[in-house]
Amino acid sequence: MARAAGRKADGERDGETVGAPSDGRVFSIRRLGLMSFRNYAGLSLRLDGRHVCLHGANGAGKTNLIEAVSMLGPGKGLRGAALPDLVRASRDADRPSGWAISADIDDGGHARKINVALEVDDVGRTKRSSQLDGAAASQSDLAELVRIVWLTPAMDRVFAGGPGDRRRFFDRQVLAHTPSHGQAATRYEAAMRDRNALLERGGADASWLTALEARMAEFGAQMALNRVDTLRRMRAAIDTRPDGAFPKADLELEGRIEQIAADAGDLTAVTEAFAGLLRSGRSRDAAAGRALEGVHRTDLSVVHRPKGLPAAQCSTGEQKALLIGLILANAHALFGRDFAPNPLVLLDEAAAHLDSDRRAALYDELSALGGQAWLTGTDRGLFDAFGARAQRFEVSAGEVRES
Ligand SMILES: Nc1ncnc2c1ncn2[C@@H]1O[C@H](COP(=O)(O)OP(=O)(O)O)[C@@H](O)[C@H]1O
Ligand SMILES: [Mg+2]
Repeated sequence: MARAAGRKADGERDGETVGAPSDGRVFSIRRLGLMSFRNYAGLSLRLDGRHVCLHGANGAGKTNLIEAVSMLGPGKGLRGAALPDLVRASRDADRPSGWAISADIDDGGHARKINVALEVDDVGRTKRSSQLDGAAASQSDLAELVRIVWLTPAMDRVFAGGPGDRRRFFDRQVLAHTPSHGQAATRYEAAMRDRNALLERGGADASWLTALEARMAEFGAQMALNRVDTLRRMRAAIDTRPDGAFPKADLELEGRIEQIAADAGDLTAVTEAFAGLLRSGRSRDAAAGRALEGVHRTDLSVVHRPKGLPAAQCSTGEQKALLIGLILANAHALFGRDFAPNPLVLLDEAAAHLDSDRRAALYDELSALGGQAWLTGTDRGLFDAFGARAQRFEVSAGEVRES
């Protein structure tokens, strides 16, 4: 039922078959291999395609394992850690210099293979290398194949934190829909840094400034349009989700460029408008030492709909429930989009904070979604309500066994 709602939420679907079998598991990890990753010396974990529940004591390696899963997509993974920090620390003389993750994927009946590794060259420089089915792949190649949404305890601070926290949270959701969003953001920030430096030097060459502003405007406009698109999809998914365990949220993007993007809707118009704002803001920005207008300042407003209260004023438990609702809504929005397989949903320590009814509702909703969810918790009993819909594993000191 929930899946039907998820499909209806995507107004642009054109009737192309999603290819979902009746159990809905069209995208799942069937084997996860780790080498020298965090507290794992080596691991080969076989999975049957059901949801994956990891239980074990604090410090056992549960979060490390789903962090490894998150590295199969683009970017830094769910802790945002620097790549070398993921190398297994060891006192041995021959301590490893890199790490590797491999995954066998079932993508709608097609077997795919992903390898991601940290490589270190002769002079000690590190880089991430990725392969898809044995051939070199870019991060956007991976992003096209692996759609991931996640919720971690660190996100609990998102409503109390600054706009940057909420912007990063939202951009993560956007990235799952639009893999090129990350690259647009990188290029936008690079152009902005160059413009800031040029303005700081003063007496700048106007044509050079105009060129940098054109780049900022183009990539910023792209970002704003991506964000507005994801916002629209998430809102639609929120509206079609059942009322119940997780409160609905009213979402707004607070940013001038997103406003223009929502009104104008096409890249050229938004780019021109943004470039005009940058040009007219030069002296103000030079005085401030940074760009005061742009997509790098956008905030996400989240209101608890049933209460009509801004999320920041909600209780910790209500905020957690809102966040779970948002992640589920985005998973719904991603589900059944014609270009992409179902998203993986990674929920770190989410179950422990819920009462048993909400836990059951969460598992029902995850099961209806049709993706593969990975959950962590200290106690095996937290996952009882999954019944036969999940595999359970006990994690202990970097070892994993089915329980
Ligand atoms: N690079 C690393 N090398 C070895 N151990 C690490 C590394 N990074 C983190 N750890 C260890 O991994 C352990 C498990 O972490 P984590 O997965 O967060 O546990 P939990 O099961 O509580 O989620 C911690 O004891 C941490 O010190
Ligand atoms: Mg943990």
